[in-house]
Amino acid sequence: MNNIFNSSQQNLENLQRKLKHFEKFELNKIFIPSEEVIKLLSTINIEETTFEEIARLVEKDKNLCIRILKIANSPVFGFSGRITSIEQALLLLGVKVLRAVILTLPVLRKSRQFIPHLEDHSFKVGTGARILAEISELKNISEVATAGIVHDLGKTVIAEFLVREGEFGKKILKYLYIDKKGKAGLQKEREILGTDHVEIGEKLAKTWSFPERLIKLISSHHNPVTSENNGIETKCIYIANLLSYFNSPEEFDKRKPEILPEEDLEILNLFEISSSEMKRIIEDINKEWLTLKELFL
Ligand SMILES: [Fe+2]
Ligand SMILES: [Fe+2]
Repeated sequence: MNNIFNSSQQNLENLQRKLKHFEKFELNKIFIPSEEVIKLLSTINIEETTFEEIARLVEKDKNLCIRILKIANSPVFGFSGRITSIEQALLLLGVKVLRAVILTLPVLRKSRQFIPHLEDHSFKVGTGARILAEISELKNISEVATAGIVHDLGKTVIAEFLVREGEFGKKILKYLYIDKKGKAGLQKEREILGTDHVEIGEKLAKTWSFPERLIKLISSHHNPVTSENNGIETKCIYIANLLSYFNSPEEFDKRKPEILPEEDLEILNLFEISSSEMKRIIEDINKEWLTLKELFL
């Protein structure tokens, strides 16, 4: 592995030490929200604030207001076009879920420069997770969709760190997420970085005081069988994550073993979901994805 980067073991150990330090001291500083978002978040954090008060604050900021209404009405959540006010968005999505979405969107947008496909991937997984949550008749559908959007947040932290490490860091970034699109990356992340995007994503979500259930879904999204949080929600994120890599049902028929790592295929086979159902979900994700792209991205 070291040959790939032309680097000694000591260089990698140095990098791992720096990443530990970065996680510990920089996590709350790397993604600083805009002033209006900070103001909004501090209001949302006050327990007794009413929906009306939050809505009034958001409505003062036209850009933020438009962004929230667009994402709330996007195919990710499945309310398409029915949410006409901030108050309604708060009611349907829930304050904590909306807060997590507001914090995550700019970070995913920024990540485009480092991991070009990550923002698209996150919204596709959000859409797929929502479709699966609906099929499973879950009650917390918006929360599951949001978990899909935020599930790979750890990769944005790793990317920020690696880019700051200059050429060596950029080479690793390319190796981990761009050459292979990050599909089979967990093991590689651990070998090179001494940690992985699941662990780091969980830490970022805690730093941002995400709701406990969202944090759990981030930490279990690659581990739906043995993780202690192995509920239906975790399976929705896990399956949506895998299906989001296919651009069409035909591709699923033709390239499944090539696109999905063997261990994922084995887990996927454990779930009671037929191939035709998976293909239908792939079709829906990609169809809704086009609408989402026109509307929002
Ligand atoms: Fe992941
Ligand atoms: Fe993912």
